[in-house]
Amino acid sequence: MTSSLLLLCCLVSLSSAAVKLQEMFSWNVLDWAYPDEQTKLMAISSGELIPENALPVGIERWGNKLFVSVPRWRPGIPATLNYIPLDGPQHDPSPKLIPYPSWAANELGNCASGLTTVYRIKADQCNRLWVLDVGTYGYDNATNVCPYSLSVYDLNTDRRIRRYVFRPEDIVPTTFIANIALDIGKSCDDAFAYFSDELGYGLIAYSWELNKSWRFSHDFFRPDPLRGDFNIGGLNFQWGAEGIFGITASPIGADGYRNLYFSPLASHIEFAVSTRILRNETAVSGSYHDFKVVGTRGPNSHTTSHVMSERGIELFNLIDQNAIGCWNSALQYKPQNIAVVEKDDIGLIFPCDVKIVEEREVWVLSDRMSQFLESEYGLDYSDINFRIYTGSLHDLIAGTVCEPPALSTPPQFLPPTAVGPVTYYDSRFGPVPPSPQIYTQPQAPRPYNPQVPQLVPKVTSYLNFQPAPAVPQRVGKNNVVKNSFWLRHNYAVNEY
Ligand SMILES: *[C@@H]1O[C@H](CO)[C@@H](O)[C@H](O)[C@H]1NC(C)=O
Ligand SMILES: *[C@@H]1O[C@H](CO)[C@@H](O)[C@H](O)[C@H]1NC(C)=O
Ligand SMILES: *[C@@H]1O[C@H](CO)[C@@H](O)[C@H](O)[C@H]1NC(C)=O
Repeated sequence: MTSSLLLLCCLVSLSSAAVKLQEMFSWNVLDWAYPDEQTKLMAISSGELIPENALPVGIERWGNKLFVSVPRWRPGIPATLNYIPLDGPQHDPSPKLIPYPSWAANELGNCASGLTTVYRIKADQCNRLWVLDVGTYGYDNATNVCPYSLSVYDLNTDRRIRRYVFRPEDIVPTTFIANIALDIGKSCDDAFAYFSDELGYGLIAYSWELNKSWRFSHDFFRPDPLRGDFNIGGLNFQWGAEGIFGITASPIGADGYRNLYFSPLASHIEFAVSTRILRNETAVSGSYHDFKVVGTRGPNSHTTSHVMSERGIELFNLIDQNAIGCWNSALQYKPQNIAVVEKDDIGLIFPCDVKIVEEREVWVLSDRMSQFLESEYGLDYSDINFRIYTGSLHDLIAGTVCEPPALSTPPQFLPPTAVGPVTYYDSRFGPVPPSPQIYTQPQAPRPYNPQVPQLVPKVTSYLNFQPAPAVPQRVGKNNVVKNSFWLRHNYAVNEY
């Protein structure tokens, strides 16, 4: 009773426009940067470009590029992997997408050198962009024009440095892979990528060093039959078959391994498994009990996108609530420890992707995907449909249960060298004034050294965010960092 009253009060008081996230870009309909108007008109008349069929689903920020992926669910998508330059001469609120790395490398059905359909993308500390091409064309009537493959790009040279085609054993007839998580260990070569198979109920691990993949199966990858009903943006629909979806890796723990956190889409429960298991191909069998229940978020908490900061703060989309949620992994995973950091009943309808960059910036893409896919009317192109927001991780979690206790020494304030077209509000220092110099050139990327947390000073961004305060480690007897509570006990999930 008390908790439902509390929830009600919070829902009411928070149902206003986004305040901590600033809208950076927005579009009624997407558009591409053709070399000239003539070429674009030809693309439209040939059907190569049908702007109304384009829905952005994934974002990532590296250097002064903001990547945007657009699946080929319908015809007329000229490129599935694109970027927006963040260092243009002036801020364009509705920029045209530029294919990455080129138009040619986005050719539909060109399996060897083109990308067909890309959902989520992930950049790493080693200046690589990891891109999964699911190879499909269409949605309900999807055809597999190319096999599932992983492409990895060197972001400094924009060249593809690896292409890996998944083994037939990694794929089942129902396979639909929408998400990717990275696990970089002691060096750039000690890298693993994990892929969630939402409709085939699997988790695929890929080793960069071995150039090899293997597949885990587990009952925790399945949907909860009681959680298949969705109400988003006034639309009711059922996504009852949707299993493991949002995945993210935790910081490296005391044992040298991360945890991979995951939630099925039709579920309110969070699970985890150590990457010690996922990195070991032999552990594909016999590891049932290594998969753990972490806890439950509570009602109305379907989620499709997870991301965890290197200090253990997890952000995720709350698609039923038009909101972004948080969890501090130092705390037990239960509804009381889950907070809404931002909510907007217009701007955040289907907040599709969430990213944390350099421990301080948060990027959010919202795209009204449920309306695009499930409404018989589709999107209203006289309205703003797609938005990209950015904000400070510190400010988003400030004052919530996810905020770590104050540090003994507060983080150093970095004076703004150059600030974007929006004003960022820092909770300790007030609004950061816009500077006349809007964009800076990217500096040389930092060499990757896993010993040094890559938090300050920031290099490539023109945004000025403060890093989130560190999550204190729980140190037990003999100075041993304790395992998470859910590794010690099997946490019971009781929602009601
Ligand atoms: C799939 O169906 C849609 C809607 O009927 C149609 O517009 C599209 O061309 C079809 N796509 C493919 C790849 O056949
Ligand atoms: C990785 O495996 C793929 C097969 O999917 C192969 O084509 C490629 O050459 C391999 N790359 C390396 C670096 O071994
Ligand atoms: C990999 O898993 C197998 C089976 O669980 C186990 O016997 C082996 O010790 C593991 N290897 C490593 C390096 O952990």
